[in-house]
Amino acid sequence: MKVVILLGPPGIGKGTVGNILSKKWNAPLISMGDLLRENVKNATSVGLKAEVFMKKGELVPDDIVFEALAGRIKQKDAENGVLMDGFPRNINQAHMLENILNDNDEIVLLNLVASNETLTERLSLRRICIRCGAVYHLKNIPPKKDGLCDICGGELIQRNDDKPEVIARRLEVFRKETEPLIKYYAGKHKMVKISAEGTPEDIIRRIEELGLWG
Ligand code: AP5
Repeated sequence: MKVVILLGPPGIGKGTVGNILSKKWNAPLISMGDLLRENVKNATSVGLKAEVFMKKGELVPDDIVFEALAGRIKQKDAENGVLMDGFPRNINQAHMLENILNDNDEIVLLNLVASNETLTERLSLRRICIRCGAVYHLKNIPPKKDGLCDICGGELIQRNDDKPEVIARRLEVFRKETEPLIKYYAGKHKMVKISAEGTPEDIIRRIEELGLWG
């Protein structure tokens, strides 16, 4: 089994790129943020506990995250490989992942990088569909009709954690908790630094040039 981890700060485009690669590679995208948001929307016990932290831009405690993830990675569609967006996010979670995987499973990291200006612009103009979760950007990837989802016609809203003060906190948490993973993984698994500047197509081209899949 191959596990491709999309590692990068909030707003860099992990979900955008991950969804395109998931279709191209016919591999499921496991997005920790989406899994948690789904739990919040459905007011599950995981969701009720996670929401408090997500609203503030803090990481959700590892045991709750693990509860949400448990089982998903072992489902049949993940047999040959998965793309991971937003997990692991700290060294403890990296250990959790290693414990779930078998010795012959392969981990590859795509270390996505972009300037702070790019991140802030992508986050502050992001809108998501309240019904199906599709992601838009008011300037870069706008919906055809103002305020409405192209796919299901649902209302487009701003994520709670895309308010300026929460964005700043999420970027800070990334530098403190998640960036150390780059050092942790260096030399342990294949890791490639990819510029996430430019259009989604530019980024996909850079990734596909690596010939990681197929
Ligand atoms: P999560 O949802 O994972 O948030 P994140 O990592 O902060 O990442 P984002 O979803 O904000 O951004 P993205 O990189 O996916 O960018 P996107 O493709 O949307 O997590 C949310 C919260 O959940 C966390 O803060 C935490 O509380 C909790 N959580 C999640 N995982 C956890 C874990 N493992 N442990 C503990 N807690 C956890 O793109 C952004 C915008 O830019 C969009 O509008 C998009 O249309 C646009 N865009 C994307 N790419 C491009 C491009 N190339 N050019 C122009 N525009 C672009």
